[in-house]
Amino acid sequence: MFDVLKPQPADALLGVMAAFAADKDPARIDLGVGVFRDAGGTTPVMAAVREAEREVLARQTSKVYVGAGGNRPFAAFIEELVLGSAHPARAAGRLVTLQTPGGCGALRLAADLIARAERATRVSVSDPTWPNHTPLIGGAGLGVEVYPYYDATSGTLLFDEMLETLERLPAGTVVLLQASCHNPTGADLDAGQWLTLAELLGRRGLVPLIDLAYQGLGDGLEADAAGLRLLAERLPELLVAVSCSKNFGLYRERTGAVIALAPTAPAAGVVMGHLQSLARRMYSMPPDHGAAIVAAIAANPDFRRHWLEELEGMRLRVTGLRRPLAAALRAATGGTRFDFIAGQRGMFSLLGLDPVAVAALKQRHHVYVAPDSRINIAGLAEPQIEPLARAIAAVLR
Ligand code: LMR
Repeated sequence: MFDVLKPQPADALLGVMAAFAADKDPARIDLGVGVFRDAGGTTPVMAAVREAEREVLARQTSKVYVGAGGNRPFAAFIEELVLGSAHPARAAGRLVTLQTPGGCGALRLAADLIARAERATRVSVSDPTWPNHTPLIGGAGLGVEVYPYYDATSGTLLFDEMLETLERLPAGTVVLLQASCHNPTGADLDAGQWLTLAELLGRRGLVPLIDLAYQGLGDGLEADAAGLRLLAERLPELLVAVSCSKNFGLYRERTGAVIALAPTAPAAGVVMGHLQSLARRMYSMPPDHGAAIVAAIAANPDFRRHWLEELEGMRLRVTGLRRPLAAALRAATGGTRFDFIAGQRGMFSLLGLDPVAVAALKQRHHVYVAPDSRINIAGLAEPQIEPLARAIAAVLR
């Protein structure tokens, strides 16, 4: 049986991780995979996570299954974080939330649900988007098409072009949006643009699938969800894929959730039944540990306060690196090409370099960036800013 299988190309981003791990040059810089790093270059276990984890382990008396929907206090807390405690859709019972194995599990379950509903056979994603969106959605049997979003050469959002394309999509088409800290560009919609988009989606009968992987790392927990909340107030249906990898630092615990907003409470109940049956046939039930930690943080005001403080510290570190990096690039290149980095949000910016320049960064300067020239700003230590700027300027010459 296995003899018919052809070797698979390695995942490009995971390949960058492996190449960096193999490089022993002391000046190497890892701006590849999207993980937060502190000023010392490590991805710490958050202190609030450690406190909550100790409590979870001390009180856990059984490893019995968590159940089809996963940890329910976790699901309630995620709903509150994402939609706010007073969102009218919550009070109306139009929301359901299922715990998933990470944000990827949430995206795949959402795609399976869309495929099962059979109204939409295609999902429209931003150009560019996170490379794993296409296989996750395609794996559910859905086609993937793109809408213009960003011009990497000039570092500008293509909002008018985005609207023009969405305007032409057939009613019922699913549109994948990123709530904040757009991956890979770092370019987000502003409040007025979310409003315009909400009007278009409602008028054209398009259904948003919103990827929320960086809440709290852009402008703050509330601000990063504001556009999404607006859509949830105005539209009858939407899906949200939530990841706790970044804002709780729970990467390897695979902790996430899929949220569905339905037109009525009974319809929401039907959607939950489908999500549970789709999960059951794929992996049965979600892992417990990460969600139990998040639920313990939610339940304890001290843990919660510590988590909020820590997350804000992480956000400020990433935001604080942007201006110095843009200034160093201006000095090194003698031009304004990379000024856009200062005004963007979240962990990523797209340099707009070609593959030859990306390869030269790695081979000549030991600088590792994603294959599309995305940099993870959170991977940068302050003393690395100037060497990085000089390396980028050198590969442009
Ligand atoms: C990233 O974009 O680097 C992260 O979300 C990690 C991943 O799974 O690709």
